[in-house]
Amino acid sequence: MNSKLTNEAVNKIRQDFPILQQMVYGKPLVYLDNGATSQKPIQVIKKIEEVYSTINANVHRGVHFLSQQATDAHEAARRSVQAFINAPKSEEIIFTRGTTESINLVASSFCRKFCKKGDEIIISAMEHHANIVPWQMQGEISGVRIRVIPINDKGELILEEYQKLFNEKTKLVSVMHISNGLGTINPIKEMIELAHKNGVPIMIDAAQSAQHMVIDVQALDCDFLAFSSHKLYGPTGIGVLYGKEKYLELMPPYQGGGEMIATVSFDKTTFNELPFKFEAGTPDYVGTIALAEAIKYISAIGLDAIKNYEDELLNYASEQLMQIKGMRFFGTASKKSSLISFQVGNIHHYDMGMLLNRQGIAVRTGHHCAQPLMKVLGIEGTTRASMAFYNTKHEIDMLVGGIERVAGMF
Ligand code: ALA
Repeated sequence: MNSKLTNEAVNKIRQDFPILQQMVYGKPLVYLDNGATSQKPIQVIKKIEEVYSTINANVHRGVHFLSQQATDAHEAARRSVQAFINAPKSEEIIFTRGTTESINLVASSFCRKFCKKGDEIIISAMEHHANIVPWQMQGEISGVRIRVIPINDKGELILEEYQKLFNEKTKLVSVMHISNGLGTINPIKEMIELAHKNGVPIMIDAAQSAQHMVIDVQALDCDFLAFSSHKLYGPTGIGVLYGKEKYLELMPPYQGGGEMIATVSFDKTTFNELPFKFEAGTPDYVGTIALAEAIKYISAIGLDAIKNYEDELLNYASEQLMQIKGMRFFGTASKKSSLISFQVGNIHHYDMGMLLNRQGIAVRTGHHCAQPLMKVLGIEGTTRASMAFYNTKHEIDMLVGGIERVAGMF
């Protein structure tokens, strides 16, 4: 497909998503909570059914026909992910349960190998709890502490302050690519370069970006990158960790169990090679195969076309929402993803979300798992509309109308 999605193409795409066809409280569903999770195309749903109906067997463990088939499809899925983010080697793709587990894996294994008491990990003020708490938990174990890049009024990272945080104790930077609370697209290329200039590796939390734009880990030169299948139109319970082989080789396993070993005796265990060293237990091979189907689906549309269309939606939504009396946006960065966090007058975000819901409009309310960010903003939470390529301008109009109706009640 070309790099522009027409309304006609979007209407056709919507037919692939059965859930979008339904009514909620007698109103057509307007699903604007894609930042929390995305809906699944029928191709992905059918793939799950197909795997269970035809090739289901445990992977890497059986010599029988089904096991071979399942193993081949699971390993092909790994190569699909490798190609999707342009990783040099498939061994550098570790399947996890989600972005959260990917970050926990790095926090645990990286700190065990490379950090000692007093060492520092740089994160940012806009991080999701998943990129704060694992480092704090490591603080209890290995004694590392976090340093935080501040943000400006527009919700952008202050890069001069970022530069100042590096010192001889800095062991790793871990930052989100796109803020789930603000929509800010962080300048990660520049941030990666700066980390490397200081001799420090860097991890990118791509949970909110992999579904919206092309990610090329070689062009970026990041050392680790994590994302989740369920936000990328794939099934829940599958995540990806990309890591440079030179780090993954040195890092100890995250969990122990089947598959991650080479030999086990009661005296000593030796570990399997990459990527299996980090994949203890039976992997969710149905999930990985369905994730590959999701990647195939969005790749056929094209990430560039998706980005262009979602940018158009963002601009339209920003202009329309701004007309609403008392509207306040949180996150007005010059580079933003298709996500708008807002508050209208003194209407509590929870009331806003509940009353939009009654009109069939799904948004997220609250602190968005970013309580420290809310503290910086001086608020408890926001209402957040997060858009995907299957959303339409008509749905934005319904959101605007819905908010106006809510505002009229107060
Ligand atoms: N992290 C997801 C969100 O922002 C759940 O909604």
